[in-house]
Amino acid sequence: MSASTYVDEKRLAQRLAAMARIGATENGGVNRQALSAEDAAAQRQLVQWGETLGLKPSIDAIGNLFLRLEGADTGAPPVLSGSHLDSQPTGGKFDGVFGVLAAFEAVEAILASGVKPRVSIDIVAWMNEEGSRFAPGMMGSAVFAGNRALDATLAVVDKHNVSVKQALAEVRESLRDVPERALGERVSAYVEAHIEQGPHLENEGLTIGVVSGIQGKRTFTVRVDGEAAHAGTSTRAERRDALLAAIAMVQALADAMRDDEDIVKFTVGRFDVKPSAPSVVPSSVDFSIDLRHPDSDVLLALGDRIAPICEAHAGVCTVRVTELSSAMSLDFPEPMRALVRNAALRLDLRHRDILSTAGHDARYLHYVCPSAMIFVPSHLGRTHCETEYTSSSDLAAGARVLADVLSELAV
Ligand code: GLV
Ligand code: MN
Ligand code: MN
Repeated sequence: MSASTYVDEKRLAQRLAAMARIGATENGGVNRQALSAEDAAAQRQLVQWGETLGLKPSIDAIGNLFLRLEGADTGAPPVLSGSHLDSQPTGGKFDGVFGVLAAFEAVEAILASGVKPRVSIDIVAWMNEEGSRFAPGMMGSAVFAGNRALDATLAVVDKHNVSVKQALAEVRESLRDVPERALGERVSAYVEAHIEQGPHLENEGLTIGVVSGIQGKRTFTVRVDGEAAHAGTSTRAERRDALLAAIAMVQALADAMRDDEDIVKFTVGRFDVKPSAPSVVPSSVDFSIDLRHPDSDVLLALGDRIAPICEAHAGVCTVRVTELSSAMSLDFPEPMRALVRNAALRLDLRHRDILSTAGHDARYLHYVCPSAMIFVPSHLGRTHCETEYTSSSDLAAGARVLADVLSELAV
């Protein structure tokens, strides 16, 4: 019998519910930001579950956590499957964690099927996919893939000036029994299951999305410097108000990025004003820009307009635009997509090809090994919010497809 037969919907739902209690928010969501105490607790939980199945844990220098089901050929590069355990500050119960626990369920199913895989299967929880505490996101997978330097990534700080290195040392302390593994070992394939984070599968009555690719994304930080002054005594002519300059920049950017087709995605999600006191003229503003487009040429052209637009609206203030990440649109290889499509067909699950407009760790794995993604529906497309929801049966369907794809790749 195929591995998918042994996928247990209830067990998967119970594990997801247990993870959702770690960092649970009042409104039914999750706050489990990268390298927080909650993230560490989720990682410990995963390692404990792995022990019950005899999976070998390991962690690399950037904090990616792996659980290995050893294959017969211990020298062969493993097949990797997972996603991330970290969440947005008001995140949901499924973004990321579903991919990790679907991989866990798939491995448990493969074990139950009695077939010993030829190559090892590594379940992976990538470090900091969301990029909410430490920006940009997908740090763990980018460093793993050699796209981002280890030392520069360890030096990134959060808003309290805590570095990735310091935060990682604390997580490492709570996982001190977990041995270290070399960074970026060779991998034979990568498969990531994820919720769709859009409404299309649900609207069309489909259960599985065969992900065709991921749209490109560039991220920036903008620093606007003015000068603090008294709100009652300083004249308009004297002021160098960083907030007014930053607002002019954001409005001009929003106008420039606006397209009639509504394809460009332009977001200023963080806006920090200093000193943020009612009677002080703002001295500085830091804001973030997240820009996405499925056409890489358009993404490049629009992203290149950001610095000149900011400079044109700086007025008496100064501005510095820093690009944090630049990732072009990509297409997953057709043979990998066919593995997902055929598994869905065999399981009689309604499916279609779908482009991911959200980012995923698979984007970086794509450049080191043949990669694929499996989507399951997101109710009303709600995500990066506390009301994120996918039914247990859809989640189990995704895990079934994953179990069969992993079996094909590893057995
Ligand atoms: C991932 O969380 C993204 O922002 O696309
Ligand atoms: Mn995610
Ligand atoms: Mn996310």
